[in-house]
Amino acid sequence: MSSDHHTTEEVPPLTETIAPGTATDPPLGADGRVSLTVDGTDVTVASGATLLDAVEAVETDDHVPALCHYDRADIGPRSECRTCMVGTERHGIVPACSFPAEAGLTVQTDATAAAEARSVNLDLVLSDHNLRCTACGKNGRCELQDAAIEGEIEEPRYGVLDDRDEYEPIDDSSPFIQIDRNKCILCNRCVEACNDVQVEGVLRIEGSGQDTRIGFQSDAATMEESTCVSCGHCATVCPTGALVEKGIEDATTIPIPGFTQKNSVGKTVGSSGETKGPMTPKKRDDAGEPAAEPADTTGGDWP
Ligand code: SF4
Ligand code: SF4
Ligand code: FES
Repeated sequence: MSSDHHTTEEVPPLTETIAPGTATDPPLGADGRVSLTVDGTDVTVASGATLLDAVEAVETDDHVPALCHYDRADIGPRSECRTCMVGTERHGIVPACSFPAEAGLTVQTDATAAAEARSVNLDLVLSDHNLRCTACGKNGRCELQDAAIEGEIEEPRYGVLDDRDEYEPIDDSSPFIQIDRNKCILCNRCVEACNDVQVEGVLRIEGSGQDTRIGFQSDAATMEESTCVSCGHCATVCPTGALVEKGIEDATTIPIPGFTQKNSVGKTVGSSGETKGPMTPKKRDDAGEPAAEPADTTGGDWP
């Protein structure tokens, strides 16, 4: 029998029910929007949005900070700090920054357990931070300061990083970016900005436990010695005064005579005094080997 002589049993009729949905089809009935309730207010967000998007779209009962989240330029969510916990009817307490908005979900920002979780986690962040706001270049435009004020925190339950002997020196070596690790909350925003957005691969989080810190992929000791090209993106995304552009590091210090950003920490690593161009040259070639020094280093600018 030839192959084009099919029987009706072999070929399903065109009216055969075909299961809806393929890899590229939207689910039936989907219109690209999801409706849910936050603190009793109906809110509709784009499908794929997070609970934080829904929370930010309404006036909530409680303030929900989101310290490791940065909603621009593909940075985060990190789900690291857990300062953004909210209560949900179906899933209990979840981090709003990364939990997807679900149709029909009921979200409560003032659920007792969620508010307590936010408060504990914010205090944990503060415990590793030197709260020297009046001598900080981000005073008045710091997300951690805002969260502490909104949370009405008067005395963090775990204390703050207040022992000067434990302070790391301010890295003031670069002409463009200053690092005060005593204000770093290890949110990883700067690492993502440098590595994933700028694709410079300068920064990393290194160490573990209490010794975890922002460092350099090249193992450089200071910002000046690193492969930083001074684009400034890390300082732009940093939620605290840990990374600040030079020139404004003292801009918001309260003007008390003899009271400066640097002497509030006490120790500073300064510049080596070597003159560099506005862009630090690459110190490694593409294979990861140290780049050869130019034969004539007295000729001024890099090629
Ligand atoms: S300023 Fe330097 S460390 Fe910061 S993002 Fe740019 S290249 Fe990376
Ligand atoms: S330096 Fe700033 S952006 Fe980077 S991890 Fe610390 S707090 Fe976050
Ligand atoms: S902002 Fe959600 S875990 Fe940090």
